[in-house]
Amino acid sequence: MSLKLNTVTVIGSGTMGNGISHVFAQHGFNVRMMDINQGALDKALVTIGKNMDRLVAKGSITEQLKQESMARISTYTNMEEAVKESDLVVEAATENIELKLNIFRQLDQFSPSNCILASNTSSISLTRIASVTKRPGKVIGMHFMNPVPVMKLVEIINGYGTDAEVTETIYKLSEQLGKVPCVVNDYPGFISNRILMPMINESVLALQEGVAGVQEIDTIMKLGMAHPMGPLQLADFIGLDTCYSIMHVLHMGFGNQKYAPATLLANMVQAGYLGVKSGEGFYKYTPGSKELVVSSRFASREWK
Ligand SMILES: NC(=O)c1ccc[n+]([C@@H]2O[C@H](COP(=O)([O-])OP(=O)(O)OC[C@H]3O[C@@H](n4cnc5c(N)ncnc54)[C@H](O)[C@@H]3O)[C@@H](O)[C@H]2O)c1
Repeated sequence: MSLKLNTVTVIGSGTMGNGISHVFAQHGFNVRMMDINQGALDKALVTIGKNMDRLVAKGSITEQLKQESMARISTYTNMEEAVKESDLVVEAATENIELKLNIFRQLDQFSPSNCILASNTSSISLTRIASVTKRPGKVIGMHFMNPVPVMKLVEIINGYGTDAEVTETIYKLSEQLGKVPCVVNDYPGFISNRILMPMINESVLALQEGVAGVQEIDTIMKLGMAHPMGPLQLADFIGLDTCYSIMHVLHMGFGNQKYAPATLLANMVQAGYLGVKSGEGFYKYTPGSKELVVSSRFASREWK
């Protein structure tokens, strides 16, 4: 039997947190969006509003549903306040293990004892996350894809001790949100990123070695393999810091050199070239422009 959920707290209001909040609010849930950064919360509300406007313009939702959905979202910078009346928490903070363990210790302390604690982590072990709580049976992975309002998949990750009732609840909830859930077990990178990230990393290695340029690599994968987006553009979209962290988890988890993050990827992250969210990665992003422009750091290489 699955459990009834009304109030959902989303921890982190960045790229994923705003999309997750959007989808829950649009489907009638009370959403409490929490971030340590007030600026990120303000930006998330603007992004959700704009994304809902787009849906209204397309006729996918009514203006009234947009207004009602926006009114269901409240924002918090205080964790205790944000989670104290929640039935479900979906954590979507930065992909960093120590940070997530710390967040889950607090969630366990401040949320009601029957609250399900889900993480949107792309790669970190749910069993490890559950181990810092007193409710490992109620800890689960709820891995949404980017952009959340558009992408249909939710990869559900069962930790070693996740209760079957919790898995069933999250499965039915994902369907209620209009998504298609797939349940997998807790191994590094799960399924999605175990397969996707080595491909992205290999593209960065090919670029680093001068095998081909940004445009050539992405065009080959788009036109040759019918991928809707090239791997380097996708990396920019995901965030190069997130890609780097996931490769690190795969590298450590499997102990195999084939998962070592590319040096170019590490350098770009260190230098703050994180892709769309920082304005530049393999491509340069100008607000308001949809044109895909290769970063000048790669555009002038001799291979062109
Ligand atoms: N970007 C993607 O395409 C993608 C896809 C699927 C899953 N994910 C996962 O989703 C999670 C979030 O990724 P993102 O791309 O949205 O990152 P992001 O950098 O865009 O946003 C992270 C947000 O977390 C906030 N944060 C940091 N520490 C916090 C804390 N202690 N409490 C509350 N908020 C805190 C930051 O202020 C920031 O606003 C990660 O686990 C990532 O692996 C990302």
